[in-house]
Amino acid sequence: MGGKIIFAMAMILCAVIANAHGEGYHTETNPAVHTEEKMTSLHFFLHDIVSGEDSTVVQIAKANLSKNSSALVPFGSLMVINDAMRVGMESTSKLIGRAKGLYVAASQDDDFQLVMYLDFGFTEGKFNGSSFIVCSKNPVMETERELAVVGGSGDFRMARGFAKLRTRSLNITTGNAIIEYNVTLFHY
Ligand SMILES: *[C@@H]1O[C@H](CO)[C@@H](O)[C@H](O)[C@H]1NC(C)=O
Ligand SMILES: *[C@@H]1O[C@H](CO)[C@@H](O)[C@H](O)[C@H]1NC(C)=O
Ligand SMILES: *[C@@H]1O[C@H](CO)[C@@H](O)[C@H](O)[C@H]1NC(C)=O
Ligand SMILES: *[C@@H]1O[C@H](CO)[C@@H](O)[C@H](O)[C@H]1NC(C)=O
Ligand SMILES: *[C@@H]1O[C@H](CO)[C@@H](O)[C@H](O)[C@H]1NC(C)=O
Repeated sequence: MGGKIIFAMAMILCAVIANAHGEGYHTETNPAVHTEEKMTSLHFFLHDIVSGEDSTVVQIAKANLSKNSSALVPFGSLMVINDAMRVGMESTSKLIGRAKGLYVAASQDDDFQLVMYLDFGFTEGKFNGSSFIVCSKNPVMETERELAVVGGSGDFRMARGFAKLRTRSLNITTGNAIIEYNVTLFHY
């Protein structure tokens, strides 16, 4: 008899736990635990290969209106990239990660700009497996420019910061470019 009661109580307890942590809508809000913020600086080169067999950029959509445009990337173009992040400017220099995501051409008569939505993920070294997220306009014709870092994962969870860019080489014919990145990240 006592065993049955204990069994029944155990079943109820199990059901309550299952309800709290299993299926169903669940919320819990607690005060945030503040740990000390860290600052990390990163330096690398992004290899943006637009044409050729080794291309890491592909157009996935474009607006009908931009068919006639002579711009390198006409207004309304949507591209996917999988660009290499390397320690140096040579195509053989060490690969440390990949920048994956989208950019759109979002300028008409105004200055040529791209808007980028990218995940910079590391595959080597101290930050292997971590990434930071850029969501920012990129005025690619300007010598020096700054992108906003809006988040991250892994070691860069909750990251905020900015990236300073400079185009170090650009082939007008192919569109291939190498861009130097200095990234400053604030994270926990
Ligand atoms: C795109 O433009 C062409 C010619 O200007 C037109 O025939 C076609 O219907 C347009 N397509 C769309 C989806 O608007
Ligand atoms: C598109 O290009 C053709 C040929 O260059 C030109 O005749 C036409 O006017 C252009 N259309 C637009 C909308 O710019
Ligand atoms: C990076 O992390 C991946 C996934 O955890 C692992 O397979 C790989 O061996 C790591 N690379 C280095 C160089 O540590
Ligand atoms: C990145 O930082 C290095 C060292 O401070 C500097 O020489 C270089 O000009 C910087 N590049 C950019 C694009 O900010
Ligand atoms: C640009 O790329 C083309 C095609 O690969 C090549 O023939 C040309 O030499 C390159 N220009 C420069 C300045 O590297």
